[in-house]
Amino acid sequence: MKPIRRSIVRTLLATAAALAIGPGSALAQSYPAKPITLVVPFAAGGPTDVVARMLGAAMMKSLGQTVVIENKTGAGGTIAATAVARAVPDGYTFLIHHNGMATAPALYRKLSYNPLTDFEYVSQVIDVPMTLVGRKDLPAKDFKELQTYLRANASKVNLAHAGLGAVSHLCGMLFRQAVGVELTTVPYQGTSPAMNALLGGQVDLLCDQTTSTTPFIKSGSVKLYGVTTSSRLKTFPETPTLAEQGLAGFQVVVWHGIYAPKGSPKEAVDKFGAALRAALKDPAVAARLAELGAAVPSDDRLTPVGLQTILQQETQRYGPVIKAAGQFAD
Ligand code: MLT
Repeated sequence: MKPIRRSIVRTLLATAAALAIGPGSALAQSYPAKPITLVVPFAAGGPTDVVARMLGAAMMKSLGQTVVIENKTGAGGTIAATAVARAVPDGYTFLIHHNGMATAPALYRKLSYNPLTDFEYVSQVIDVPMTLVGRKDLPAKDFKELQTYLRANASKVNLAHAGLGAVSHLCGMLFRQAVGVELTTVPYQGTSPAMNALLGGQVDLLCDQTTSTTPFIKSGSVKLYGVTTSSRLKTFPETPTLAEQGLAGFQVVVWHGIYAPKGSPKEAVDKFGAALRAALKDPAVAARLAELGAAVPSDDRLTPVGLQTILQQETQRYGPVIKAAGQFAD
């Protein structure tokens, strides 16, 4: 569809949705009247999916409706973001995404949505540290030995990630640059299939969020070489940060946000945001998130303005860095 026609259609859809759920209307009071879809841009079983399912289940308590998780994978999350940007803005479709919303405009030459103008902001969600993990039988017992191994084997070493624009890719690229070794990168549709490849010994390394890696590290199914935060994690206090182990300034923390298509009814955005905040305060959810190393942001960040602010800041921060590195997709 041509851009002008698309924008006319979107305006009509938004107007229809606003008329259907206008302020004070009977529908506004009964929202949500049917299940709500939360689109996850990566494969089932990965960190984004795990958090979406946990929160979606808890949000049902206040919404009184099911939150259906839809995994729409590919192109580092941009396929899902495109689909949600173009979805009918009726309050029944939302997107959970992370730093990838801020990096995509610089990474993709032909991005068909604008993260800064094509969405309603609902709220930030959680902050998650990352971990550098290796296959169980990798012949390097700690980070020092890993560096020696990488130098000796260089491009024979495979580093898995979830596609251009995924945080596992961002973390992997920063790591590759910091250690100065040209590792071979292998893309997957999410870090769940990447983790399966690591567990099966088909790839060597993966930089992934603690919400995904924690159980595998605890069971000894993968080796933990370092964490990407500026200080050590409560969940793995014995493991030094990568910065502590010689990669000065190395820091990657993942932030997540929830978005709705532009023009979605304010009542729906407000109710979904309120249900999210209630879910994050649910003691069982809070305890599980803490066990997985995730942190719930301060109340001012759990708002539409909180999400808009971090998205704008991070877009400005990453844009020039990515352009300077010259790594683009069409
Ligand atoms: C990533 O960006 O690496 C994603 O969080 C992966 C995923 O959720 O599967």
